Amino acid sequence: MSPDDASDPVLAPIPATELQPAQAATDTPSRFTCFITGTDTDVGKTLISTALLHALVQTGVRACGMKPVAAGAVLMGADWHNDDADRLAAAGNVVMLATLTTPYLLKQAAAPHIAAALERITIESVPILAAYTEIAAASDAVVVEGVGGFRVPLSDGFDTADLAQQLGLPVVLVVGLRLGCINHALLTVEAITARGLVLAGWVANELELDMHFADENIAALLMRIPAPLLGRVPRLAQPCAAAAAEYLDFSGLPNWPANP
Ligand SMILES: Nc1ncnc2c1ncn2[C@@H]1O[C@H](COP(=O)(O)OP(=O)(O)O)[C@@H](O)[C@H]1O
Ligand SMILES: [Mg+2]
Repeated sequence: MSPDDASDPVLAPIPATELQPAQAATDTPSRFTCFITGTDTDVGKTLISTALLHALVQTGVRACGMKPVAAGAVLMGADWHNDDADRLAAAGNVVMLATLTTPYLLKQAAAPHIAAALERITIESVPILAAYTEIAAASDAVVVEGVGGFRVPLSDGFDTADLAQQLGLPVVLVVGLRLGCINHALLTVEAITARGLVLAGWVANELELDMHFADENIAALLMRIPAPLLGRVPRLAQPCAAAAAEYLDFSGLPNWPANP
């Protein structure tokens, strides 16, 4: 980030005092955390993240969403807003500064490293890990939504997979059911496990009303993905957190709050 961007609210830097490394290792063992990735952009990551937050809130815990890197912002009043970040905030029940839940709010709806370059910003892990640590300290459960697919570059030598690895969170994979999703899903699973991350579960999200051979696609994935299917979400007339949550069972996820 260039120094002369500091007065711009969308680029407001995190104070240096908050720049501490993430303390995932010191998290209380009972805290529910996960990183949501997907087979692509627009496959339902935000929808499933909000469903998770909704279900967490239903269990009575303090749940907060985080969208560390968001590309695409609109000015509403004095503040820049991103739709994903707003949807996550609405689904959770912990109010945090937007600069913490989204340390990198980029104006241009483009690949993050391109949107960042337009604003002369370099996306780095330290502010994200510091923000995550603060959010985790204020919450019983944190849901972090990735950006795009698992290997989306964030800057030179740093991508979404690196971020997930540095956060060290169990990963939930959202598979957007469409032609080609089997290959995308299996490549993503390979990339997740190659980083030593736990694939905690996956979701089959029906993007299309009547996808040809949807059952067969899901069967092929069930055979090949070494993690539980958390649910199959149909094409919803009103895609919202509560509606999606009805098709999902998160209770088997590690540290799910209802689990003793
Ligand atoms: N199961 C579904 N039924 C209906 N619409 C859906 C479904 N899943 C996703 N969508 C819609 O598709 C779009 C992309 O979903 P979103 O959750 O924003 O994807 P991502 O976060 O992966 O980019 C949104 O408009 C969302 O409401
Ligand atoms: Mg999203």
